[in-house]
Amino acid sequence: MKFRQVHSRNITKLLLSGIFVALSCLGQKVSGQGLKDYYRSFFPVGVSVSPRILQGGEAQLIISQFNSVTPENDMKMGPIHPRENEYNFRGGDSIVAFALRNKLKVRGHTLCWHNQVPAWIFKDDKGDTVSKAVLLKRLKDHITTVVTRYKGKIYAWDVVNEVISDKKEEFYRNSAWLRICGPEFIEKAFQWAHEADPGALLFYNDYNEIDPVKRAKIIRMVKDLRAKGVPVQAIGLQGHWAFNEPSEEQLEKTFADFAALKLPLQITELDISVYPKEHEARGRKGSDADTSFSPERENGQAEQYRRCFAVFRKYKNSLTGVTFWNLSDRRSWLDNFPVEGRKDYPLLFDRNLQPKKAFTAVVSF
Ligand code: XIL
Repeated sequence: MKFRQVHSRNITKLLLSGIFVALSCLGQKVSGQGLKDYYRSFFPVGVSVSPRILQGGEAQLIISQFNSVTPENDMKMGPIHPRENEYNFRGGDSIVAFALRNKLKVRGHTLCWHNQVPAWIFKDDKGDTVSKAVLLKRLKDHITTVVTRYKGKIYAWDVVNEVISDKKEEFYRNSAWLRICGPEFIEKAFQWAHEADPGALLFYNDYNEIDPVKRAKIIRMVKDLRAKGVPVQAIGLQGHWAFNEPSEEQLEKTFADFAALKLPLQITELDISVYPKEHEARGRKGSDADTSFSPERENGQAEQYRRCFAVFRKYKNSLTGVTFWNLSDRRSWLDNFPVEGRKDYPLLFDRNLQPKKAFTAVVSF
């Protein structure tokens, strides 16, 4: 009897200490791990950055959570090449230096886009539109200079961004690039980027790839380019989504279609708005007054993040990276898009840089 009592007391002690050890390990796991660690065996997890946030608490958060960065604006043509004979590498250089210091990968963004282009690029001295030959020469100089500068430091480039039209009946976006050059600028951009750094992985990047019509156009363009020997090597799906879009079915179909190309895929600009998805920019209305981060919005967003990451994990053989567009709800480009001045809360960290419910949803699997 006595023996039994002592024995059971010992077992209880043993059990309790086991539980204690397990709990403290769990505690350590939760506090010591970042997104990059939870996803170590899946894909690198990145974030878009500006030089401003590479200091203080935000820098610490970047280093502890992510293993890849993308310059949010500093390598776009307008900021980096403001005048024909003038490059401004300050921002880009500081981001690359930060990444090298902290052993983070860098995705370059972006070499050819219709937005944030410097005004000079399409005009001659007299203000007239330049010829195709002049524009292509300028594009070549731009790509060669920028890619060469970061050769060996940037492992992947978004070479061409958003050239597919959102209009069902139109294939290419009607941009100044297309009007002046025709679609040839697309293949040239990839060729010149490849010549400047044959080691960099070259992406075609676009948004609203969950729309079946747009997706089919992207896939057709990539297939046609590759059939011609153009070095389009990977596809970037931006992933500017909302709590109510895409549906799980839409996302699944999107991944299935792209994975069939057998090319690396990345989610390059992920954020999940707490407002119902709208595709066009518009002014603020009376019905936009409530911008609180209510429990309902918080939960809807967390569930959407959970659904998205479940699909990402499922497609880990195709998916070679997931990058968030902005670090925390302190500032997001969605605070001004699609509705100017409407505060959004699209990220995994709140305005105090603390993990949100959505973070837990992403790392609980
Ligand atoms: C956005 C930036 O986040 C903003 O700061 C800037 O004012 C406009 O561009 N698709 C892209 C990104 O490829 O470069 C855009 O970034 C968001 C949409």
